[in-house]
Amino acid sequence: NEIKIFSPATVANVSCGYDVLGFCLDTIGDEMIVRKTEKKGIFITKIEGYKLPFEAKKNVAGVSALAMLADAQPNCGFEIEIYKKIKPGSGIGSSSASACGSVFAINELLGRPYNKTQVTDFAMKGEALASGSEHADNLAPGIFGGFTLVKSTSPLEVLQLPTPKDMYATIIHPQIEIKTSDARAILPKEFPLTDAITQWANVGSFVHALHTNDYDLLKRALHDVIVEPHRSRLIPHFAEVKSAALIHGALGAGISGAGPSIFTLSKGIENAKSVERAMRDVYSSTTIAFETYVSRIN
Ligand code: HSE
Repeated sequence: NEIKIFSPATVANVSCGYDVLGFCLDTIGDEMIVRKTEKKGIFITKIEGYKLPFEAKKNVAGVSALAMLADAQPNCGFEIEIYKKIKPGSGIGSSSASACGSVFAINELLGRPYNKTQVTDFAMKGEALASGSEHADNLAPGIFGGFTLVKSTSPLEVLQLPTPKDMYATIIHPQIEIKTSDARAILPKEFPLTDAITQWANVGSFVHALHTNDYDLLKRALHDVIVEPHRSRLIPHFAEVKSAALIHGALGAGISGAGPSIFTLSKGIENAKSVERAMRDVYSSTTIAFETYVSRIN
């Protein structure tokens, strides 16, 4: 009647796959305890870490849980405790982790009536509250793990992609906040066809590289000519961090989700750690506080 879960941080977009690609981190995430109550409804009773609304309808974990309850119509309710470790507005799927965690836990307590795609679909209702639009590129890796591709959101279709051996992510999180809705609003509505061609060639190549363990192709596919040129202006020292990461052995570097976090992918833990040191060096010479994470991608 009670479950304690870890809801992982995630990286969305992965350079070339805006709103489509994502992967899961296993070293940072929120914790939640969810327990059945006799009284029907969703009751958020504890939030530690960051200040977020307790009212279920205003909390992303509450909204996704309410969506699941409206469909499942169980004879009970649920109490949710949230131990928030992922800072809201960090670009590593903070709202997504809340949205995924509650519905994942409730599905388990109900005896798993829903499959992973259906659980992700309920989580999308919570994510929409935070970002103003329904997208699932953080949610899908949070529920499925590893790399995922969201083929469509309506109806939701998620593809689980393979992870090449020894794939590591290094993340640097400068402690400034970027609202996803703002980062979405600054993007142009139309793009030149030549840029679109480059981008979809890269997405296809990236997916092929994951399937064939082709690190060289993966490196050449990790580019973003659509979103990064616009959003990188919001992130101080982005170009320096990116070039330091590439010089020190990263396969690629880009904005994590809507930013401000910057992600890199590397082959092997040694490369991932040397990239971490190089990125830390850039921000160490500024007044901006930051944190870094290294995580194996499973
Ligand atoms: N794909 C989303 C974006 C992820 O970049 O806006 C952040 O929620």
